[in-house]
Amino acid sequence: MNTLIRNGTIVTASRIIRADVLIEDGKIKEVREDIPEEGAKVIDAAGMYVIPGGIDCHTHLDMPFGGTTSADDFETGTRAAAFGGTTSIVDFAIQGRGTKMRDALDTWWKKAEGRACIDYGLHMIVTDLGGAGLEDMDDMVREGVASFKLFMAYPNVLMVDDATIFKALAQTAKNGALICMHAENGSVIDVIIARALAEGKTAPVYHALTRPPRAEAEAVHRAIAMAEIAGAPVYIVHLSSEDALNQVREARDRGVPAFAETCPQYLLLSIEELERPNFEGAKYVFTPPLRPKEHLPKLWDGLKHDHLQVVSTDHCPFCFEDQKILGKDDFTKIPNGGPGIENRLQLIYHHGVNQGKLTLNRFVEITSTAPARIFGMYPRKGEIAPGSDADIVIWDPNALYTISAKTHHMRVDYSMFEGFEVKGNARTVLSRGEVIVDNGEFQGKAGRGNYLRREARGGAWK
Ligand code: URP
Ligand code: ZN
Ligand code: ZN
Repeated sequence: MNTLIRNGTIVTASRIIRADVLIEDGKIKEVREDIPEEGAKVIDAAGMYVIPGGIDCHTHLDMPFGGTTSADDFETGTRAAAFGGTTSIVDFAIQGRGTKMRDALDTWWKKAEGRACIDYGLHMIVTDLGGAGLEDMDDMVREGVASFKLFMAYPNVLMVDDATIFKALAQTAKNGALICMHAENGSVIDVIIARALAEGKTAPVYHALTRPPRAEAEAVHRAIAMAEIAGAPVYIVHLSSEDALNQVREARDRGVPAFAETCPQYLLLSIEELERPNFEGAKYVFTPPLRPKEHLPKLWDGLKHDHLQVVSTDHCPFCFEDQKILGKDDFTKIPNGGPGIENRLQLIYHHGVNQGKLTLNRFVEITSTAPARIFGMYPRKGEIAPGSDADIVIWDPNALYTISAKTHHMRVDYSMFEGFEVKGNARTVLSRGEVIVDNGEFQGKAGRGNYLRREARGGAWK
């Protein structure tokens, strides 16, 4: 049966119009005023915004990390995402050192199969380009893995050297994929960490104090310089500081295809959180770390002026009680990561749109359309237009909601945004035309989410 969304205000990255949306076979068929019902199931969206489903292009579900595994799997994580109005994610498969990327892809497909409630793509984390690594990258691109993440941090775990980064960038200059960079100078940070531990500084706050903003800025600068030499675009993940932002802005001002995302935690929380008593600071241990308050308005400004293009979550949840506690006596043993997949749209809408920092169009752009474009999913995702997947959120701009671990759907025992009050929330969420969330009720099912084969764009975003 067709579905007709009536009486709503459609908001995309470029338009705000009063129109109806007709959905047929999971796709948007028509967008215009006064579409006749003709037996369609009608969803009344009076007083609501009708926006493209959110796309979170940075999540870590069921990921082994820091001696444990992230607490949400593909079922619990994507279900929580849906409650918050996110209808697609791009998660990360991890190539084991000395193994083929295809093995990692198979492993992550198995993790998602039968579990994902919304559509999902995969980036590949590259740890080793020895042997046939470069051909492996091309193989991944053929499988719809159109982006790769490389780490300039976490020596001896995930970090790769500059030669590997440069080879990977050069390969994407040929195959059209995009390199995503975790940009922090891991070697320098390791020396600072060793010094801190030798001085007996083991509390969570030292996680932040041993990873200075200049270590992020230096790595962003180096990553962009290497991308320029290789003739490839580059995307900086989870950018956290003004120093790093300045590097991206300077490059973009010169016309370099450098892109960057930030996350709600860097826009709304600051380093003081890590000083919470009773080890609660560990709830805010992730990398890069939270920064002093002065950085926050600079990041909002960066989003407004397109120096930053995307807000993702870097959702990587670890329970406080039995996972974060691993680092009770040593901050370096606290599993790095925080939860957020469910709250991204609420937080960015409330603190961005309601507080006048972002327009409605820009809100849609940074949470849906830009990630769709940059990661090879547009216009199938991130748009409300004939032919696009009917991934649609009916957004109630007046809904009041208090974020809390007591009511959230993420499988984690705390919220980084506990007690935050927001105005604006997803009322009805459609994924490929199917209502999967309505008025706080989950109506989807595990396993209905499809793998997203993404296109390598070869710089089509220029
Ligand atoms: O602390 C974080 N960000 N954990 C997830 C892994 C990463 O670096 O993105
Ligand atoms: Zn990272
Ligand atoms: Zn991450």
